[in-house]
Amino acid sequence: MSQKIVVIRGDGIGPEIVDATVRIMDAAGAGLSYEYVDAGLAAYNKTGELLPADTLEAIARHRVALKGPLTTPVGEGFSSINVELRKRFDLYANVRPAHSLPNTKARYSDVDLITVRENTEGAYRSEGQTLSADGEVAQSIMQITRRGSERIVRHGFELARRLGRKRVAIIHKANILKTTSGLFLRVAREVGKEFDDLQISELIVDNACMQLVMDPSRFDMLITTNLFGDIVSDLVAGLVGGLGVAPGANIGADAAIFEAVHGSAPDIAGQGLANPTALLLAACMMLDHLGKAEIASKIRQAIHATYLAKDRLTPDLGGNGSTQSFAQAIIDQLG
Ligand SMILES: NC(=O)c1ccc[n+]([C@@H]2O[C@H](COP(=O)([O-])OP(=O)(O)OC[C@H]3O[C@@H](n4cnc5c(N)ncnc54)[C@H](O)[C@@H]3O)[C@@H](O)[C@H]2O)c1
Repeated sequence: MSQKIVVIRGDGIGPEIVDATVRIMDAAGAGLSYEYVDAGLAAYNKTGELLPADTLEAIARHRVALKGPLTTPVGEGFSSINVELRKRFDLYANVRPAHSLPNTKARYSDVDLITVRENTEGAYRSEGQTLSADGEVAQSIMQITRRGSERIVRHGFELARRLGRKRVAIIHKANILKTTSGLFLRVAREVGKEFDDLQISELIVDNACMQLVMDPSRFDMLITTNLFGDIVSDLVAGLVGGLGVAPGANIGADAAIFEAVHGSAPDIAGQGLANPTALLLAACMMLDHLGKAEIASKIRQAIHATYLAKDRLTPDLGGNGSTQSFAQAIIDQLG
């Protein structure tokens, strides 16, 4: 019986890149079946709800989802459905690999590193936010817990061990944020004692950013808190050619949602211009998660070969292919 996963096609370029990704997974023999559900604007337009109960039930039932990007209005309107999904399913680990691909605008050709970001607490809890009546003073609560820190550093260390990555850097700002970042660092040191096969280092976040830009090959894996992880992982994505090639996984104990790091790109939606690589690499992470590492590896090799051959690349990569012709080029490389 084929394994069923949930698919959310999403907003903007979402449907185009999701359809291309599903086509490639099927051609690679992933043997999955799909339950399509809606979230975000697509769901709102059909049902009047941004996150319908059917969508939540499907994710709870199948435990694995592939999600296209969802549009969130800036500064007004509804809150991010992405953040809501992470909260509902307690998806505490945000794993973002960055791997150089040939013929991109990448600054380095030898980057291969993973950022593991805490996804549920820190500066993004969005609780206790106040603005004084005169609009002059804003406040927000930043909360770090021992439990939240322990489970993310453990997830990162175990992932490093599983993938054979030796150098793990804990990124913090405990010199200034002595209580919050201090607790995270203390817990990382304690848990790190159980992983004496790893070379664990500590870097202050501003220094880490400078070191990453100077020489990213020094790093195998970064583990950090929510806000720093959000910023540092985009910086790293920039080193390998930008958001078009950056995948991400949101993992919890009971569910996992795989997505591209980029958004719904309304400026190019519906024109067949979107690059499906980021979502396709997220699908490869999903296939690894489902125990289908061989299929994932076959797709990654086909992506690499397509970039190397500059075959039907999308316009963001300097080519004149379309989302679907680029997907076909990858399928042709599957062999
Ligand atoms: N995980 C998510 O669902 C997610 C993540 C980020 C932003 N968003 C949402 O997406 C919407 C648009 O956000 P934005 O414009 O700031 O960022 P964006 O990532 O959608 O787009 C930024 C730029 O990159 C380009 N781009 C992005 N993905 C591309 C792709 N696959 N191929 C080619 N070009 C691509 C876009 O055309 C645009 O010029 C907002 O509503 C935002 O809230 C969603």
